[in-house]
Amino acid sequence: MGYRNDAIDTEAKASATEVSSDGSYKGLRRVLTYGTFDLFHFGHIRLLRRAAQLGDYLVVALSTDEFNAGKGKKSFYDYATRKEMLEAIRYVDLVIPENCWEQKIDDVKRYGIDVVVMGGDWAGSDRFEHLKEYCDVVYLDRTPGISTSQVKQHLKTGKDAQ
Ligand code: CTP
Repeated sequence: MGYRNDAIDTEAKASATEVSSDGSYKGLRRVLTYGTFDLFHFGHIRLLRRAAQLGDYLVVALSTDEFNAGKGKKSFYDYATRKEMLEAIRYVDLVIPENCWEQKIDDVKRYGIDVVVMGGDWAGSDRFEHLKEYCDVVYLDRTPGISTSQVKQHLKTGKDAQ
């Protein structure tokens, strides 16, 4: 570790993008996760912290507004705002757009990903299991008692979160 200190180690960051002659990335163990991360909350922070601990460089593929619309979902904050917030998190090194379900193998190859991490709600899902051919796939337990939907519901009904 040591790449996420507030004082950025520019040499380490530079080596993070070093590419071998065969096109693969050298050096750092790279982690990738997917999500919408709307109304950013402590369940998100804990997921990102544990994901970051699995490697040296964390990429977050952030669902775009168009992708969410296709799933019938609309976030409170738009993509640009959610991206800005994620980029301010010390565990996150890079935010890329998640435009469709099918991009994952390409993401793993393009960013030299060693491990894809998802919350336990995705455990065993075909959406991620097929990636095991290309990298490790790890499911982390969700933080109980919090979700974006729950926060929205609480705000709507006026109930306290606790
Ligand atoms: N996550 C988590 N613990 C929670 C909530 C989310 O570990 N309590 C994880 C999810 O499993 C996912 C990532 O955080 O890997 C992003 O989740 P996202 O779907 O954006 O957030 P939710 O709060 O689950 O949103 P929603 O209620 O809209 O499903």
